[in-house]
Amino acid sequence: MGEPLVRPKGTFDILPSSWGGEPWKRSPLWQSLEQSLRDTVKNWGYEELRTPIFEATSLFQRGVGESSDIVSKEMYNFLDRADRRLTLRPEGTLGAIRALVENGGQPGSPQYRAVQRLFYLGPMFRYERPQAGRYRQFHQFGIEAIGLASWQSDVEILQIALEICKNAGLPDIQLQINTLGDAADRERFKSALRKDLMTRSHQLSEESRRRLQLNPLRILDSKDPDDRVALQSAPRFEDFLSAESSLRFAKTTELLDHLDISYTRNASLVRGLDYYSHLVFELTSPDLGAQSSLAGGGRYGGLFSLLNRPERPAVGFGMGLERMAQILAKSRADLPISSCDVYLIGIGPSAQRALYPLSRECREQGLRALVHTEEGKLPKALQLANETGAHFVVLVGESELQKGEASVKHMRSRSERNCPFRQIAQQLRSDLAELP
Ligand code: HAM
Repeated sequence: MGEPLVRPKGTFDILPSSWGGEPWKRSPLWQSLEQSLRDTVKNWGYEELRTPIFEATSLFQRGVGESSDIVSKEMYNFLDRADRRLTLRPEGTLGAIRALVENGGQPGSPQYRAVQRLFYLGPMFRYERPQAGRYRQFHQFGIEAIGLASWQSDVEILQIALEICKNAGLPDIQLQINTLGDAADRERFKSALRKDLMTRSHQLSEESRRRLQLNPLRILDSKDPDDRVALQSAPRFEDFLSAESSLRFAKTTELLDHLDISYTRNASLVRGLDYYSHLVFELTSPDLGAQSSLAGGGRYGGLFSLLNRPERPAVGFGMGLERMAQILAKSRADLPISSCDVYLIGIGPSAQRALYPLSRECREQGLRALVHTEEGKLPKALQLANETGAHFVVLVGESELQKGEASVKHMRSRSERNCPFRQIAQQLRSDLAELP
């Protein structure tokens, strides 16, 4: 016997609602969530970009950063049959920039310089320790605005992130923001932080001692209690920001105040990817437990030069769909659990034939309609109707057919009435609209 053929650790299936299981894993919930995300960003002028789910390993190594957890321990790397080094994408930003460089025209051309507002939605892969809200294959919805440099455009991105949550029906979302300044600010701060923490490195966790050399900034977001104590007397990033970087951040928060957008300044928010500068942010939810970050993003740079192109300003974020679906499933009791509105049963061959045009009319009215096709007696047909979760069953026998009508049964109340064929589709549409 070989290994059991089950799904790989850290993955999950998204299932038809009739299969039961955990509500957040039901496909109708995912479909309506995805539709809401697409609709919201469409109204902000964003267009979809689809890139391969695998890319050259070096794209992520150099773009996300060698010192990041993603590159150092979480990537799904593999060699293909021609020994190319490839990686299942751990995030969407690098693929988006690579696609723009490859398809966006010659450097210097108007096409290359045009502002791009892009969104993507799809699976990402990280070899993390699985737990609630953390998976090895997960789904991100992300946006990238390329060619916009202003602090006002940073605010635009925050507005979009919050509007997405509102339109999707996510309650109690909190915004945390911080600034990572520019590259020179970060270098000054990193060396001061390193110097300071070196003197007390014995107090730090093993992970933070490792980070002290590689990227001391990441120590700031450590949750280890010893690290937190050591950080209390450490230098503060705020004191190392240039006047220009501080002013940029002050203007950002001023506009947020003006727009009545509430936020918390979190000086420990540094993000786990190396490409950020200036604004960084996360959206969190009290409904998520330990993995409370629903979305993360900010302004970033350096990725175009990595691909040997003139640098362009860019800002964006990624949101985890699993975490959104979990919140929605908790807060919404009205999850659809049926795959059919009208199940049509014909008793006898001519009755059954008469149902085909009627089912088409129902679908034209926007109803989900199925004609019963299987052998067997009426109880069996009704059982199949029930399994689809149909709201109505339309039943036609020879005598109804002669009269040009059908018996229409509302499955929940068990009420039944006769209705002329030509009125059925419209009548059912208005009946359905009135159902609670
Ligand atoms: P990130 O913070 O690594 O950012 O991921 C964004 C979101 O993806 C997280 O807030 C979380 O909801 C979700 N997520 C990440 N890892 C997992 C996991 N293992 N299981 C479930 N959900 C997860 C980025 O990926 C950046 N590319 C975002 C960005 C776009 N920045 C600028 N543009």
